[in-house]
Amino acid sequence: STPVVIAIDGPSGSGKSSVSKAVAARLGLAYLDTGAMYRAATVWCARRGTDLSDLAAVAADVASMPLEMGLDPRAPGVTLDGHDVADEIRTTTVSEAVSRVATNLDVRAELKRRQRAAIDAERAGGFSHGRGILAEGRDITTVVAPDADVRILLTASEEARLRRRALDVHGAADASAVEATRDQVLRRDRDDSTVSQFVVAADGVVTLDSSELDLEQTVEAVLAVVTEAT
Ligand code: C5P
Repeated sequence: STPVVIAIDGPSGSGKSSVSKAVAARLGLAYLDTGAMYRAATVWCARRGTDLSDLAAVAADVASMPLEMGLDPRAPGVTLDGHDVADEIRTTTVSEAVSRVATNLDVRAELKRRQRAAIDAERAGGFSHGRGILAEGRDITTVVAPDADVRILLTASEEARLRRRALDVHGAADASAVEATRDQVLRRDRDDSTVSQFVVAADGVVTLDSSELDLEQTVEAVLAVVTEAT
């Protein structure tokens, strides 16, 4: 069968990562978390003591970043300079700094190049043995893989997104946990949207609103779009 490429974009808290991993596992596809690559780039610059406002220095760091992405949706790995950084990339410090690295256009060009290489490798063989890949992020449907077989924008109401983020980060979704998450989530989405368009679907991109759906229902909805399109 021919390889399939699925692109999923969305804001933070849309459920993108959990849904994407489940769909990729279900379909036997490789899984690429592009947000993890921007997060790893942020860790790498911090480790090297690079000033994030020095755009050329940040771009040079990222150009030579020794990053390996594990593409197994059941155990996606992020290895930086030979060390697993899966936990380190999720810290609040990284979440607060990542948009500064992600708005560097030379960084975006470099990571786009690596993401396209991963997609091409999965079309030819790779982890999925040529079954294909699901890549998720902010600009996959528009910039990285506008030629994908399936393109989905996963959205959710602000309320639903903040609730999910609070659960992720604080393990609770009571009023104070949601408040603690609000500034961080909304500021990051506002900063990110200066370089990527992930609030309104581009032409040919299917919008899925997960506000009223649980994880399994969202997975089913994505699978229905995939079946329809392939
Ligand atoms: O999805 P996640 O929250 O891990 O993404 C972290 C950050 O990486 C985003 O806030 C954004 O700044 C950046 N990003 C991006 N383009 C992508 C994926 C993530 O700019 N395709």
